Amino acid sequence: MSDRAKIDYFTEEGSIDAVTSRIGPDTNARLAEVVTSLVKHLHAFVKDVDLGQDEWEMGIDFLNRTGQLCDGNRQEFILLSDILGVSMLVDAINSRRPSGATENTVLGPFHVDGVPEYEMGTNITKQGGTETCLFEGTVTDLNGIPIEGVRIDVWSDNEDGFYDVQQPEKQPLNNNRGVFTTGVDGRYWFQGIKPVSYPIPDDGPVGQLLGQLGRHPFRPAHLHFIVTADGYDRVTTHTFVDGDTYLQSDAVFGVKETLIAAFEPVLDGKTKWKSSFDFVLNKSA
Ligand code: BEZ
Ligand code: FE
Repeated sequence: MSDRAKIDYFTEEGSIDAVTSRIGPDTNARLAEVVTSLVKHLHAFVKDVDLGQDEWEMGIDFLNRTGQLCDGNRQEFILLSDILGVSMLVDAINSRRPSGATENTVLGPFHVDGVPEYEMGTNITKQGGTETCLFEGTVTDLNGIPIEGVRIDVWSDNEDGFYDVQQPEKQPLNNNRGVFTTGVDGRYWFQGIKPVSYPIPDDGPVGQLLGQLGRHPFRPAHLHFIVTADGYDRVTTHTFVDGDTYLQSDAVFGVKETLIAAFEPVLDGKTKWKSSFDFVLNKSA
């Protein structure tokens, strides 16, 4: 019998403790908590599926290819988080609001800072388009009182389903995007085009995974908004086109029932559609 001190070497049964017991006493408490939980769930997952050596290699290769595709414009890891529902879960945890307040959804990769600020009524479509649409509504607090000075940052795709930043050679700068500020009545209105559904970038490992899972890459047609006002929670959200084919199967799980907006035909001979949506902001804590 050896008289060496008993050491807890790595075993299948004791795998979680073997790793987490190495976390040093001076480690940041939150980091220790997060890594302990991560190891616990990762090991449980590996055991649950009885992960094969070849499957582990495939997983490592998948993560490598995902990372290799990331650069300043393409964030394949965020896309992976999106299609696994993690982005929406993190958003849900971090944007809990009272009922009646406008709900959040994913930001997506196509927001741009520093876009022009326009007068109400401006047309944000610089490229033209046949499905012209008036977007309008009011921003109020939870008591229905209009809020002045609300910054409404809006962006959407063109009639082919692409954002301006995806086609810098083809679309005018800041096509289908702009910033508006409400007056005392809390109202907003601007011209644009009715958005169309489009696929998320699916030419990389995330697109391959979607295909292997029998899932399509489409998002239902939507308009993005970031709505901010001093003293209120920031709302990062969309309005979705009612009746869109993909409302119940959004590739990134972004749809919430309260965000579905009616698009009604207008018969004034100029604008084809009108979409009304009121934003309700929650006072920040
Ligand atoms: C978007 O709506 O712009 C978007 C959201 C998540 C992934 C890709 C695109
Ligand atoms: Fe989008």
